[in-house]
Amino acid sequence: MAENQNSKDLYMIIKEKYQRKSVAGQLQSVFGKEIYHYSCLESTNKVAYLLAKKGAEEGTVVVADEQTQGEGRGDHYWYSPQGGLWFSLILRPRMVSSETSRLSILGATGIAMSIDRLFSSLKVRIRWPNDVVIKDKKVAGVLIKVRTERCNVNFAIMGVGVNLNVREFPSPLSFTATSLIKETGDSTSKKKFLESTLEELENLYFSSQVNGQMLLEKARLFSSLLGRQVEVITTEGKFQGLVQDLDEDGGLILRLESGLHKKILPEEGYIKERSQKI
Ligand code: BTN
Repeated sequence: MAENQNSKDLYMIIKEKYQRKSVAGQLQSVFGKEIYHYSCLESTNKVAYLLAKKGAEEGTVVVADEQTQGEGRGDHYWYSPQGGLWFSLILRPRMVSSETSRLSILGATGIAMSIDRLFSSLKVRIRWPNDVVIKDKKVAGVLIKVRTERCNVNFAIMGVGVNLNVREFPSPLSFTATSLIKETGDSTSKKKFLESTLEELENLYFSSQVNGQMLLEKARLFSSLLGRQVEVITTEGKFQGLVQDLDEDGGLILRLESGLHKKILPEEGYIKERSQKI
């Protein structure tokens, strides 16, 4: 959908708008109070961005059953057929642009917590910065888009893709991706999973504004990389080392072979290879 499309059209094709109850039965306060549900979009991120520019409130969600131009990290195409959960959440965090890296970690942690809550037998992990994986195959991802004004964040769009009921992936994705239906053998209610994930994201988002360490502790619990030897491809080149920690900015702290430490932010790099846990 083009950015300059008349925004009135967006409101006219709203199919679903409801007040949501949490999985635990409590009314949710902010995230998902407004949900715009489309059967098919180019990308929920694009529509959420337009809505946010028009002043949509924090917590507004755009969800599509299918995306024709799903956006992945690093300008990659995100495979978004029917069956998956594809949504974008509008955030208005009080932060400066240099702090927004932590939103990637927050998103991945919220999804991992939701999967863990609903499917406790699955061993869900976060592969820094934003991949949610099961048995090293990607089950979900997060893409953050930020609009800033004089270094302050005006709004952020958290795009979330979860391979919920996706049964098959085209090659080469079939080697690296998985879905909840493939892992559990059962289909999952999209509404239930969305509710649960929004609830986890909302709790993490507001509690991390009071205590940033809490988010970090949760992220460490799910991290698949701590204590592992990795190769990180960055804009500065390749770095090999041992993953020592994650920090509050969403950065990966690597101990290089030289013994020096290097911090890499989510937008600066991605993991190329992993070796055995030591
Ligand atoms: C990644 O590359 O890991 C991030 C993938 C994010 C995909 C989601 S699906 C909903 C939202 N809309 C998009 O176009 N992309 C994000």
